[in-house]
Amino acid sequence: MQTKVFHVVIVGAGMAGVSVATRLRELGFAGAVTLVSQEEEAPYDRPPLSKQFLLDGDADAIRLQPEALAAQALADIALIRGNPAVALDVRAREVRLGDGRGLRWDRLVLATGARPRVLPALARSPRVQTLRTLEDARAIRQTLTLGARLLIVGGGPIGLELAAMGLRLDARVTLVEAADRLMTRSAPALIAEHLRRHHVDSGVDIRLGRSVADAPDDGHAVLDDGARVAADLIVVGIGVHANDELAVQAGLAADDGIFVDGFGRTTAPGVFAIGDVTRQRNPATGRFERIETWSNAQGQARALAAHLTDPDNAVPYAETPWFWSDQGELRLQAAGAITGDEQAIRGDPQSGRFSLIQWRDGRIVGVAAVNAARDFHMLRRLVAAGSRLRPEVLTDPQANLKSLIAAAAAPSTPA
Ligand code: FAD
Ligand code: APR
Repeated sequence: MQTKVFHVVIVGAGMAGVSVATRLRELGFAGAVTLVSQEEEAPYDRPPLSKQFLLDGDADAIRLQPEALAAQALADIALIRGNPAVALDVRAREVRLGDGRGLRWDRLVLATGARPRVLPALARSPRVQTLRTLEDARAIRQTLTLGARLLIVGGGPIGLELAAMGLRLDARVTLVEAADRLMTRSAPALIAEHLRRHHVDSGVDIRLGRSVADAPDDGHAVLDDGARVAADLIVVGIGVHANDELAVQAGLAADDGIFVDGFGRTTAPGVFAIGDVTRQRNPATGRFERIETWSNAQGQARALAAHLTDPDNAVPYAETPWFWSDQGELRLQAAGAITGDEQAIRGDPQSGRFSLIQWRDGRIVGVAAVNAARDFHMLRRLVAAGSRLRPEVLTDPQANLKSLIAAAAAPSTPA
């Protein structure tokens, strides 16, 4: 049943904002929808920025929902570009934009995403860059030419994807990671070590336990152990901050991420938040966390659109988080928790295709797969079901995952 809501204002036109706007229309929402974007660019998808876009520079190939947005008049989604939301008045239900105009809302959606953390010690150097926007990717692409010396700070997905692309573009790549292993936030240690070996074998100079202390004007970077590394370009990929300032100023509960429930509801009535800017209960860990993935942005958007159009029948978002990361020849896919109290490998790491499965208290809580997409898609369902299938069953190469899953996904899985 359609509610009487007539104007939904969405701040931020990334994957989360565009998804909720277009989903509202798909569900037949009849009110007005306004998308407010601080970027001048037509909305685009971010994952390709550290992957294919660096090779081909094709911005048209990465536009978000081009049909829906091109048919703006038809879909009746008003897109305001190059004009940030600068303040919220939750009582008056009005958002103020950078050009001074005010927009009244019946429902407000904050989908402002996240921005890269920076290293203050490097802030003044023109050779230093982060990678979040199309503009960032264009700048990196321009410098990454044959023989360019690329220094990457941070061994998470951004750093490692960029390292692989740097090699493809014939750059010389050094990567420094502060921790004693790669992918600390998003992959199990065994997988991180597999990735490290792959990147080192491919030609990346990886230095663990190191960071960058300075980037003087002489074309070098100085590491925190005093080592000097020649660098034409230094890309910092050391994680992100939530763009939650508007919410904080308006008094919404937030802590580097706006707290939301499964419908994206914040602590202010009529104000919702989705995507990277949110902090929600992660079903894999039970903790309130930021889930910084492409699939999360879409999943939260769908649940919110359903809630706004048909609150009585909408189902809260509670999907097990998952993501992928393409790093040269490797495709990593991971779902659920990255640690457990027991783990087992399905497949053979030597063959380059395998999955690492995690159990906690006898239940499967996570899987990370390398070049094993088929297994990943099935094992992910076992994570979602909290299956109690034992390691010896899943590591048996003869095991038919499909039929095991059909049985395990049934609601009668023994407790
Ligand atoms: P964002 O995409 O950050 O969009 C938020 C938008 O809001 C931005 O355009 C921002 O400018 C705008 N905004 C902010 N404040 C305001 C304001 N006050 N007024 C108006 N507009 C505002 N995930 C994966 O699962 N797999 C991958 O392989 C993968 N690769 C990635 C590669 C890169 C280079 C990056 C940057 C991210 C990658 N991700 C990947 C993560 C994924 O892209 C994000 O989780 C997703 O983009 C989050 O969408 P979002 O809409 O919440 O935020
Ligand atoms: N020096 C070197 N390494 C650092 C430093 C530092 N000063 N500070 C943090 N790191 C390392 C962390 O230990 C971690 O391994 O940088 C890595 C950052 O990894 P992520 O937090 O995963 O962040 P990043 O790779 O920048 O990805 C940012 O892009 O892929 C998307 O959705 C993903 O939201 C994420 C975003």
